[in-house]
Amino acid sequence: MDALASARTLIAKGVSCRFGSLQVLDDLDLPPLPPAQVVALLGPNGSGKSTLLKSLAGMAPARFHALSLGHRDMLAQPERARADILRYLPQSLPEALHLTVTESLLVALNVRRRPGKAQAMERSIAVLESLGIAALAPKYLDALSGGQKQLVGLAQTLVDQPDVLLLDEPLASLDLNYQHHVMGLLGRLARERNMLIIIVVHDLDMALRYADTALLLYQGGLLAAGSPKAVITPEHLAHAFKVQARIQVVRGGHATVFVDDLIQL
Ligand SMILES: Nc1ncnc2c1ncn2[C@@H]1O[C@H](COP(=O)(O)OP(=O)(O)O)[C@@H](O)[C@H]1O
Ligand SMILES: [Mg+2]
Repeated sequence: MDALASARTLIAKGVSCRFGSLQVLDDLDLPPLPPAQVVALLGPNGSGKSTLLKSLAGMAPARFHALSLGHRDMLAQPERARADILRYLPQSLPEALHLTVTESLLVALNVRRRPGKAQAMERSIAVLESLGIAALAPKYLDALSGGQKQLVGLAQTLVDQPDVLLLDEPLASLDLNYQHHVMGLLGRLARERNMLIIIVVHDLDMALRYADTALLLYQGGLLAAGSPKAVITPEHLAHAFKVQARIQVVRGGHATVFVDDLIQL
């Protein structure tokens, strides 16, 4: 690994999180995750994906043996600084305020680093353009559709250029075109900004096509980690999702998951 990558590699070891008597994450070790890549976080409902992302950002009652980004010990950071570096975008965004999209991006910037207003405007517009939603700039948040709100939420996290982006199902209410657009954009951003992007996705075809690495959670532990092709296998899908599936290479060279049957328990 070169020096630039190791200076930003995320190390998370021995992650445990419990809610009452429910042990949601149980002494889980992630592999070292270098920057400039998109990591797909996969797993069945309730397997602990959201809890893992929140734990990394310091937003869940988790314990770690180690959590660092390059030489920076994240456990020694004040809560706010850690949440800034490891930025979590929730699955459902808070109820929209009566602000325009541009105002909401300026707020996202101002509450953090207070750059000059002109520079903040410029950066906000650039992020909206890169997401293909510049036309939404003057609209009010509370007048947007679910998918548009999700894109604006993504813009709010991107505008501030965090080191690590933790995106919880950002594709959930996006149409087919935007799902591909956003995944392609995230890959480019990760490389351009030397950023690590961990993204919860349910669509395994999206993970096969756009992710550099995949992590498969099952019952609070890591069932598999590695290249998407090595992780998304019939054996792992049978174990984690209880489906009989094939992975087929289709025209264009992309792989696609084909479910033949459910495994009866
Ligand atoms: N704040 C909480 N209090 C109690 N239980 C929780 C809380 N957050 C998550 N859980 C439980 O932890 C488990 C994992 O949840 P979650 O991480 O949201 O799963 P996923 O995102 O993989 O669907 C679920 O059983 C869920 O009910
Ligand atoms: Mg979740």
